[in-house]
Amino acid sequence: MTGTEADAIILGAGAAGLMCAAQAGLRGRRVLLLERAGRPGKKILISGGGRCNFTNIDTAPDRYISANPHFAKSALSRYTPQDFLALVEDRGIAWHEKTLGQLFCDGSARQIVDMLVDGVVQTGGTIRCDQQIAGVDHADGRFRVTTQDGSFEAPALVIATGGPSIPKMGATGFAYDLARQFGLKVVEPRPALVPLTLGGEDVLFRELSGVATEIVARTGKTAFREAGLFTHRGLSGPAILQISSYWRHGEAVAVDFLPDRAPGWLVDAKRSTPRATMRSLLKDALPDRLAVTLAERLALEGELANLPDARLNAAAAQLSGWRFIPNGTEGFAKAEVTAGGISTAELSSKTMEAKRVPGLYGIGEAIDVTGWLGGYNFQWAWASGWAAARSI
Ligand code: FDA
Repeated sequence: MTGTEADAIILGAGAAGLMCAAQAGLRGRRVLLLERAGRPGKKILISGGGRCNFTNIDTAPDRYISANPHFAKSALSRYTPQDFLALVEDRGIAWHEKTLGQLFCDGSARQIVDMLVDGVVQTGGTIRCDQQIAGVDHADGRFRVTTQDGSFEAPALVIATGGPSIPKMGATGFAYDLARQFGLKVVEPRPALVPLTLGGEDVLFRELSGVATEIVARTGKTAFREAGLFTHRGLSGPAILQISSYWRHGEAVAVDFLPDRAPGWLVDAKRSTPRATMRSLLKDALPDRLAVTLAERLALEGELANLPDARLNAAAAQLSGWRFIPNGTEGFAKAEVTAGGISTAELSSKTMEAKRVPGLYGIGEAIDVTGWLGGYNFQWAWASGWAAARSI
């Protein structure tokens, strides 16, 4: 395919770009995908531990973070998890629900990539890999993209190059540079779904590296109940990854280590088991090493019978809202996604087209819409890619 033959050029053959290309192809559009990596869908291949958590059946707009919380509603309501599941089932890909509405392939993430790539190729689209984009020009309603292989032209250009999370896989902020070239605003990108790091007094907790337990992690009004994990640098595990997307530097993350205990549980324990100690009680409920560390930090020595109720209630409150003040995150190197990105104020929520630059589109992780952990980010890639495909 030469540039002048294409109806649309899509930059980036990841989740959103492949979906957009396949769906536009079904509508008879001739699409050219330009991909920098040596093959399409690299992040899909490593996703979900190699099994791709391809959607979440509990998808809802309030599970997405954006400067405009309403922006994602339109695309998400028009292309649903059931729509993607229908593609998966038509293709005969076996799947299962793991937990919390998360759908995974039984076999391999490669099945999802193959399905999408076939969808592009069978509808007449072209995928060119190993493309170094040297420049993008725009004149007379046409976009011209120049790579080492030549120049390609089309009346529509879709930015689907994702965000800078996991740079060692080749991820960059290319989408933002291109958006700025066209005068579009970018919401400051930041690592999300990322482990948090601890310093100061909290470094002691790093000794618990490898210990995991179910917690509620909270910042402001947002809370997640899932596993928490101590690492050699700080805190991780699903509950922490989730809360990291909402956390801002300088804020505390409150961790409830005993989410099922009522506030007065220590005073109740004093009545029922007066000879018990803090350490023995905590060891009944938590992994040993964590119980010992928490008991030491609480510094309540001796049998419960000898401890005043007020101190026990204060300890119970501390255990249900242990305040960590992370000194940072593990950054884009370890972030599963990037929050922020091309401002949604610049785009139509129906078509993903830039309001000020007709023919220019932004989809997927490149734009300021970030989902929770658990298949939500792929669902956004599918839904936003589908929405743009209806318009190009
Ligand atoms: P994506 O990153 O998929 O694609 C962008 C494409 O653009 C890439 O192919 C890239 O090479 C290409 N590109 C970049 N710069 C370019 C340039 N200058 N020129 C041309 N091409 C360029 N989500 C989920 O819902 N379920 C899951 O199980 C997981 N698991 C997971 C695991 C890990 C380890 C990571 C890092 C991430 C996940 N995610 C996830 C998140 C999910 O992978 C992510 O949100 C989507 O892939 C985003 O889709 P996009 O198409 O927007 O970007």
